[in-house]
Amino acid sequence: MGNKRSKKTNNRLSKQIKEIEQLIVPVPVPITDLDLDFHSEKQCYTFFLDPVIATSPNVESSEIIKYGKEGYGGWTSNSNPELEKRMELLTEDYQSPAVNQAETLLHFFAMTDLHITDGEFPAHGIYTKYGGGIVSVYSEMMHYTTHVLDGAIHSINAIHHENPMDFGLSMGDNTNNARYNELRWSIDVFDGGEINLDFGINNNPRIGPRKNFYDDFMAVGLNQQIPWYQVIGNHDHIWPDKKPKVVSDDPSRRFLFRADWMKEFFKTSTKPIGHGFTAAHLESGFACYAFEPKEGVPLKVIVLDNTQPDDDPNVNGYAHGSLDRLRFDWLINELDKGQEEGKLMIIAAHIPIGVEYLEPLTKPFMSWSTISQVSEPEIIEKLHSYPNLILWVAGHRHRNTVTPLKSPDPIQPERGFWVVEAASLRDFPQNFRTFEILKNSDNTISIVTKNISPTVKEGSFASIARSYAVAAQQTFNGRTDMMPTGSYNAELMVALSPEMKKIITEF
Ligand SMILES: [Fe+2]
Repeated sequence: MGNKRSKKTNNRLSKQIKEIEQLIVPVPVPITDLDLDFHSEKQCYTFFLDPVIATSPNVESSEIIKYGKEGYGGWTSNSNPELEKRMELLTEDYQSPAVNQAETLLHFFAMTDLHITDGEFPAHGIYTKYGGGIVSVYSEMMHYTTHVLDGAIHSINAIHHENPMDFGLSMGDNTNNARYNELRWSIDVFDGGEINLDFGINNNPRIGPRKNFYDDFMAVGLNQQIPWYQVIGNHDHIWPDKKPKVVSDDPSRRFLFRADWMKEFFKTSTKPIGHGFTAAHLESGFACYAFEPKEGVPLKVIVLDNTQPDDDPNVNGYAHGSLDRLRFDWLINELDKGQEEGKLMIIAAHIPIGVEYLEPLTKPFMSWSTISQVSEPEIIEKLHSYPNLILWVAGHRHRNTVTPLKSPDPIQPERGFWVVEAASLRDFPQNFRTFEILKNSDNTISIVTKNISPTVKEGSFASIARSYAVAAQQTFNGRTDMMPTGSYNAELMVALSPEMKKIITEF
C-alpha cells in the first residue's frame, strides 16, 4: 500500500510525532472527595469544570506542558443535578395526578461521539491546523479515547446492576478518522477483553515516558444481557476528507466505506450480531433499520442514517444533516407502520433536527445541508403528523441539550415530540445519557433522561483524559452550557392520542 511519497511523508511525520510526544506530560489530577475504586461500579456522578483563574495566561492547546502549571484541566465531582420537569408538550391546563405510580416501560442508554482515535494517523489535523479553534482537529485527550469508553461501559454495567437496561444505542462517530483500526477498537472495547492498541510506525510496548496509555489493556466489556445497536455518524465515513487516501503502510489504517463499516459489527461477542445491521445492509450500503427492543412493550426504535451522501459536493464540509428521497420514504414507511400498529416511536439519528444554534462557529458546517433533497422544515412538518412519535435522540454536536418540537395544533398536543442530544464521550463534559420511558397513572408518558459521566479513579488514564478534556474546553473556549431550551437531567412529559392512551391503559 505504501509508495515513495508516503515513506518520505512517514519519516517527516515520525520526526514531528517524536517532537510532539516530548510535550506529553499529564496534568496533576485533582483530588476529589469521592473515594472511588478503579472504574468504580458503585458511583455514577457528574463533574464540573474549575474555571481557570483570571490571572492565568492564555495557553495554546498544543502547550500541554503548561496546562498543570497555569491551572488548566481542573475539575470537581458532584452528585447529578435534580430532574427538571418539562411540560411544554402538554396543554397549558394539564394537571398532574395527585398520586402517580409510574411504571417503567423501557430503560436504555445512548452513548455517542466516542471519536476513537489513531493518535499517529498521518493525515490528522494536528499536523496542519491544530490552532484552528476546534477540538475535533486536536485535543490531547484523543490519545485516551479507548480508556474513556471502557470507563463508560463500567458505569453502564453498574447502572444495569441497580436498574436493568433493556438495550443501548451507540449513536455514531465511533471513529475520528473513519479508519478500520479505530472502528475495531470501539467494537472490541464494547465486547471486552484484551485491547491491542498497536498502530502506525511504532509497535507496543512503546518506549519512553508517558507512552503506556498505548499499551494493551483489559476492557471490562458491556454486560452480555444488554443488546446494543449502532447508528452511523459522519466521522464514520466522510471525515476528515471525503476521498479515501493511502495514508501509511499500515493496512489497519485503511478507510472504510459504509458497507465495510457495517460489516465490522458482525465480528462481535456482544449482542446482537450485526448490532442492528443485517446481510441485506451489507449488499445495499443502506444504514437504516428499525427494531422493537422489548417484547410486549408497544414501542419501536427507528435508526436513521441522516449523514450526507458520499457523492455530495463540498458545501461547508460534510457534517450537515441530510436526507435523500430514498431514506425519507423509508422513514415515512416505518412511521406509518408504527402509527398503524399502535406503537410508540423513537427515532435514533446521529444528527439532531430542529435544534438551536447559538454558536457562529458551528452553524455553517453542522446545521442541515442546504443541498439535502429533503429540507429540515419538510421533515419536521411530516414528523408532526405522527402522534406516536415521542422522541428523537441524537449526538453529533457534543452538546447535551433538550428541545421540545411542539405540535403545530394546540388541540392535538400529542403531535409534538422531544429532541434530546447526548454529549460526546470525548469532549467535556464526557457524558452519555440514560433514558427511562415511564407510563404515568393518567396515561401520559414521561421520558426521564440523565447525563452520566464515566466513573474513573484518580490517576487512571480515563481520569487523565478527563483533565485533558477540561483543558481543551478551556483553551478552545468551547461552549457547552445549556441552550435556552435545555435541561441537564430532565423528566420530559409527553401527551398521547386517545387511541394510544387506550393501548397503554390495557398494557
Ligand atoms: Fe458527528
